[in-house]
Amino acid sequence: MSGQTGAHPSLVITGLNVERGERPVLHDVSITIPPGEVTTLLGPNGAGKSTLVLAVGGALRPTDGTVALGDADLTRARPEKVRGAGVAVVPEGRRLLPNLTVADNLRVATFSLSRDDATAGIDRALELFPELKKRFETTARSLSGGEQQMVVLAQALASRPKVLLVDELSLGLAPVIVKRLMPVIEEVAASGVGVLLIEQFAHVALALANNAYVIEGGRIQYSGTAQALKDDPTLLQKAYLLGA
Ligand SMILES: Nc1ncnc2c1ncn2[C@@H]1O[C@H](COP(=O)(O)OP(=O)(O)OP(=O)(O)O)[C@@H](O)[C@H]1O
Ligand SMILES: [Mg+2]
Repeated sequence: MSGQTGAHPSLVITGLNVERGERPVLHDVSITIPPGEVTTLLGPNGAGKSTLVLAVGGALRPTDGTVALGDADLTRARPEKVRGAGVAVVPEGRRLLPNLTVADNLRVATFSLSRDDATAGIDRALELFPELKKRFETTARSLSGGEQQMVVLAQALASRPKVLLVDELSLGLAPVIVKRLMPVIEEVAASGVGVLLIEQFAHVALALANNAYVIEGGRIQYSGTAQALKDDPTLLQKAYLLGA
């Protein structure tokens, strides 16, 4: 049962190596995503952030390293198994099914749950995004970009995850929408979920993150508190430059 505070294990990624097109992309990447906190992964274009998300989510197979959620070994697990273990992934550029309503997009996202869990999950998602209630029977293609991104996030939340990985939540969205989405991320973490937030805009992510990692050239160049990066912005620059 999900939802209770502090009861979830950390998602622990250890020594991950991932190749794409036979080219090594991630090198010995270790990241821990504790429950009840926002962890951010920062880094320039092409650093390997999305590759990490795809590897954890089961879309890419690591050549080395492990992914574990408590006793569940999720290394090279299929996407259904990762989802079933309670890890929800919002990949970069996730799209809705444009001809389906908001309601049906949410139902599709919960099809593997029992009917009661699906109902509870969708209720929870609508609690976090009450503005979607009046759009429930609207087709996804008629929504604004911001509303669509809310539904994408609602889909992930409807599965009542223990861990949520979000890749580029704010990409292409107006600042006012980003301001609406970020408190939801904070609230989800406060309810006991471990959140990994990937953001192009470091200041947006650091504003709510507890811990931060900086990746460059597929290698972790910094890991520590988000506060330390906020206090000393040159640390972030140094971390970026280290891998250059
Ligand atoms: N489909 C692919 N096939 C082969 N290599 C790829 C593929 N997609 C990405 N790569 C390579 O993997 C490396 C990491 O890319 P990735 O998309 O993980 O970076 P990122 O940190 O998410 O960047 P961005 O900030 O632009 O989203 C890059 O060198 C990229 O060229
Ligand atoms: Mg990316």
